[in-house]
Amino acid sequence: MAPCGPALLLLVFVSLLPCLHAGMIKLQCKNENVGIYRQNSLLSCSVKDFSPDVTVILVIWKKSGKSIFTFYAEKTTFEDEDPRLQFAEPNWTPNNMNISLLLKNTQIADAGQYECMVVTDAGEDKGQTSLQVRALYSKPTVCSFPEKNIEEHMKVTLYCNASGGYPPGRIQWLDKYNTDWTASSETRVVQEEDKRTTLISKFTVLQATSVNPWYKCVLYDSDGNRQGEAKYTLSFASKDHRKLQLIGFHLED
Ligand SMILES: *[C@@H]1O[C@H](CO)[C@@H](O)[C@H](O)[C@H]1NC(C)=O
Ligand SMILES: *[C@@H]1O[C@H](CO)[C@@H](O)[C@H](O)[C@H]1NC(C)=O
Repeated sequence: MAPCGPALLLLVFVSLLPCLHAGMIKLQCKNENVGIYRQNSLLSCSVKDFSPDVTVILVIWKKSGKSIFTFYAEKTTFEDEDPRLQFAEPNWTPNNMNISLLLKNTQIADAGQYECMVVTDAGEDKGQTSLQVRALYSKPTVCSFPEKNIEEHMKVTLYCNASGGYPPGRIQWLDKYNTDWTASSETRVVQEEDKRTTLISKFTVLQATSVNPWYKCVLYDSDGNRQGEAKYTLSFASKDHRKLQLIGFHLED
């Protein structure tokens, strides 16, 4: 073991060097940022514990190993691989230690893990931050099959649809007595091209009755927050309509 001692010490020392150097400044990144679809998002990283005359030499932001934003002081250039990105601080200068990014027109695909590296004349450091993206659903809409002239005890299918949300939410069905009918429904989550989702909830009323013609569809987001609701009243056939049908007369609409 003894002959290895000095070599091991040297190895430990050498591998510590970059850490000591890096330790001179500290990059602090927010663990989690939340952005809204099509709005601006903030990817937050700032250098902490610096002396007032520190200057930023290089900033590299990466996503999944691919660089997406680079500032290089020597050439005073920004190499923006994504034109939607810029420093979040308006009129940023290399003496500004807030190297957070502003991401414009946020898309669902922008969600994920981001890495940030900063080199200053007082040392360097790296950090990580993540972005979650959310999109609100459109107001839910309800329709029924058949749409009108529903008879007592008829089987009726109701749909409640809402589009454009992310992450996927859920739909609950209630009647006027607040009885929860969700178990009798089936909700399909259809993914759109940009990863946003449409919810199509199909609820079958096995025996519709004009005593209780009123239903409500409640839309919840992925966190379980109520995002919207739609009320719907089944359109039963009028008594006159029924009499006419009994004598074999068919009324359209
Ligand atoms: C960095 O700048 C952005 C934009 O001005 C601001 O929202 C954010 O709070 C700043 N971060 C820190 C740590 O000061
Ligand atoms: C909801 O989706 C179903 C199935 O695609 C469709 O038949 C129905 O017309 C839609 N309803 C509304 C109100 O958009």
